[in-house]
Amino acid sequence: PGFLILNGPNLNLLGTRQPEVYGRTTLADIETMCRAHGERIGVSVEFEQSNHEGALIDAIHGARGRLDGLILNAGAYTHTSVALMDAISSAEIPAIELHLSNVHAREEFRHVSYIARVAVGVICGFGARGYTLAMDALQSHLEGRS
Ligand code: DQA
Repeated sequence: PGFLILNGPNLNLLGTRQPEVYGRTTLADIETMCRAHGERIGVSVEFEQSNHEGALIDAIHGARGRLDGLILNAGAYTHTSVALMDAISSAEIPAIELHLSNVHAREEFRHVSYIARVAVGVICGFGARGYTLAMDALQSHLEGRS
């Protein structure tokens, strides 16, 4: 199977951006972790980041009919974007919503998610480790185990 691991706005700054909230691991470190984990579990990984809503939508459309699953950390677009939600519905591939931080322990506006409505499940609060947790979760979902 092939997964698209897609990262939204400001996640390019990981490692230096509010490290007390998001940790010191960079997005490049996370990509390395995901690729290594993919090799362990037999999943090919496409890893992308964009600060632009339309580019994220294009990436989701690009996965349609070609890849088997989507792991999406949509950043702040999680809480605002009907367009991203619709893109996931249209892509017809299972998606996991991911956040480094526990969004439910933070401001009220982060408790709302348009992505969760169309996701298989949500992983948040486990920092960078959430990415490999999401890969395992998506793989077991595809295998019909959860
Ligand atoms: C985030 C949480 C969002 O609320 C925030 O806007 C981000 C990062 C996370 O990974 O914890 O940009 O998605």
